[in-house]
Amino acid sequence: MENFSLTTKNTLKVTENSFIITFNEKLDFIPTQFIMIETPSVVRKPFALGEWFNDLAIGVEVIGKGTAYIVEQKALKVHGPLGKGFVPPSGKGAMIATPACLAIAFDLHQRYDCDVFIGSVEKLLAEIPFEVVYGNDEFVELLESLSGYDWFYVVGSDQMEKVAFDLLRQKAPVYISFNEYMACGIGACRGCAIQTKEGIKHVCIDGPVFRGDLVWN
Ligand SMILES: Cc1cc2nc3c(=O)[nH]c(=O)nc-3n(C[C@H](O)[C@H](O)[C@H](O)COP(=O)(O)OP(=O)(O)OC[C@H]3O[C@@H](n4cnc5c(N)ncnc54)[C@H](O)[C@@H]3O)c2cc1C
Ligand code: FES
Repeated sequence: MENFSLTTKNTLKVTENSFIITFNEKLDFIPTQFIMIETPSVVRKPFALGEWFNDLAIGVEVIGKGTAYIVEQKALKVHGPLGKGFVPPSGKGAMIATPACLAIAFDLHQRYDCDVFIGSVEKLLAEIPFEVVYGNDEFVELLESLSGYDWFYVVGSDQMEKVAFDLLRQKAPVYISFNEYMACGIGACRGCAIQTKEGIKHVCIDGPVFRGDLVWN
């Protein structure tokens, strides 16, 4: 874990608000580990590490000043890789994600040959190598249709993750990437604590990925 700079190779607009930023540098990381990125804000912002066609990459959904700043930069000061990362169980897996999580999806697909399904409310502006479903009803239909998988991994908004967990939990273990606010990313501020069935865990050092049934009923 260290401080370093990443220089932008390309910024691909995936939807009106979501981007994939690729970098010139390489980095060793475990899937779903994240970096904390410096912005003009006092606290750094967490972003999951991924890959996009052989380049180190992150996905960014612009929702506020920090994310708007990040997609405009040519170089970023970052700290990481952080978090435990997620090594899936054996067997065939499926990942369900939003467009901002495409870089994580590409990385997991490359490493574990899992199927990837992207749920989006916005039209995709870039070609991607995965199936996309648009709209809430279509998303629910997709989740109901999935069968024969040994594990699921879901990453996106809190609401989308809970819907997916509820619809998939009877089929196979569902792993969720939790979205708590992070100030330090290293277990020091205790700001990302969540209550689990195994006691208090910190998303930054014990996660960010947990089995959904460890946290939700
Ligand atoms: C482990 C981890 C990995 C992440 N990876 C990614 C990623 O790969 N791509 C990506 O686009 N985003 C990711 N995020 C979320 C990202 O860090 C936030 O969207 C970003 O920090 C927002 O910064 P901002 O300054 O643009 O917005 P802010 O001004 O901080 O917030 C704008 C709005 O979004 C809300 N908000 C901000 N952060 C969060 C949050 N963590 N959970 C819920 N609501 C929030 C605020 O309440 C506010 O309404 C990740 C978060 C975590 C915890
Ligand atoms: S972000 Fe500070 S303890 Fe997790």
